[in-house]
Amino acid sequence: MILVVGGTGLLGRRLVRDLAAEHVRVRVLARGVHPFPSEWPDDVERTAGDLRSTADCEKAVAGCSQVVFAASGFGLGKDGDPRSIDRDGAIRLTRAAAAAGVEHLVMMSMHGAAADAPIDLLRCKYAAEEALKASGMAWTIVRMGVLLEQWVGLLSESLSTKGTVMLFGSGTQPITFTSLADASAIVRRALADPALRGRTVEWGSQNLTPRELAGELIARAGRGTVRSIPSPVLHVLAFAARPFSPFLSRMAAAGTWMDSGALQLDLASVRAEFPDIPVRTLQETLQPAADA
Ligand SMILES: NC(=O)c1ccc[n+]([C@@H]2O[C@H](COP(=O)([O-])OP(=O)(O)OC[C@H]3O[C@@H](n4cnc5c(N)ncnc54)[C@H](OP(=O)(O)O)[C@@H]3O)[C@@H](O)[C@H]2O)c1
Repeated sequence: MILVVGGTGLLGRRLVRDLAAEHVRVRVLARGVHPFPSEWPDDVERTAGDLRSTADCEKAVAGCSQVVFAASGFGLGKDGDPRSIDRDGAIRLTRAAAAAGVEHLVMMSMHGAAADAPIDLLRCKYAAEEALKASGMAWTIVRMGVLLEQWVGLLSESLSTKGTVMLFGSGTQPITFTSLADASAIVRRALADPALRGRTVEWGSQNLTPRELAGELIARAGRGTVRSIPSPVLHVLAFAARPFSPFLSRMAAAGTWMDSGALQLDLASVRAEFPDIPVRTLQETLQPAADA
């Protein structure tokens, strides 16, 4: 049995679908704020529980051989936060898994995770990584670039409702995007291949500037403009918004960081080890027949 923590999220839904198609027994832990998809096969176990509860974590890991941590409190419009979910929730879950005899845990992390990283999410991810390494279980850490489909969705929504793509920062620095197909593929490889245990794998699909991404969406829509909030304004916003909107503050800080060029991987070397995993690019993702 494989537990996918956060299996109702953007990546989690894709991963659960792919694992189920491979006839892997899957259990999902999530609160149910994101509904459990009705199209999942009946034998996918749905466990409603909260990472902030030790009892819920213990119940979820019982009987599992492997765990994927794909939950997050950073996401858009949610009520969580990185400290309680990406750090403390991940550590609570890791301890419960180790105590229950789980063999291997795959931790979804992000490029740039470090103790002294300039944004809170990356410090939280680093703390979770360190706790996992010290847990006594076999481990794999996957540090991804941002999810491509999430950005496509956000920018497309802004384009269709306002006729404008709004960028946080100049949008001129390349950042590493990871398509859902590629993210799911590397996690499934980590679950299946013991050679990836004890490894931190950096991962991504394509380096693009946000302006290139916006340009592609505008070209396909046949209309629209790009507007941007300059980095110095974002920098101020990250501090000013903190008391009344921690979410906006987090987004502004992340925008400043990405606009610095820090989220760009050398994809040729990252992908060289996995030549059999095809790269899913923006163009392929936008094909009408592409699966989400
Ligand atoms: N999105 C990115 O660009 C990106 C980049 C690098 C790394 N990552 C990492 O990749 C993983 C997947 O990201 P994602 O964007 O697919 O995540 P997401 O869409 O934000 O989904 C988050 C998941 O976590 C669950 N969750 C949130 N709070 C919870 C709680 N208190 N207890 C139990 N479950 C909870 C959510 O379900 P409920 O709300 O129903 O509980 C949902 O299933 C995450 O670990 C993320 O940090 C993401």
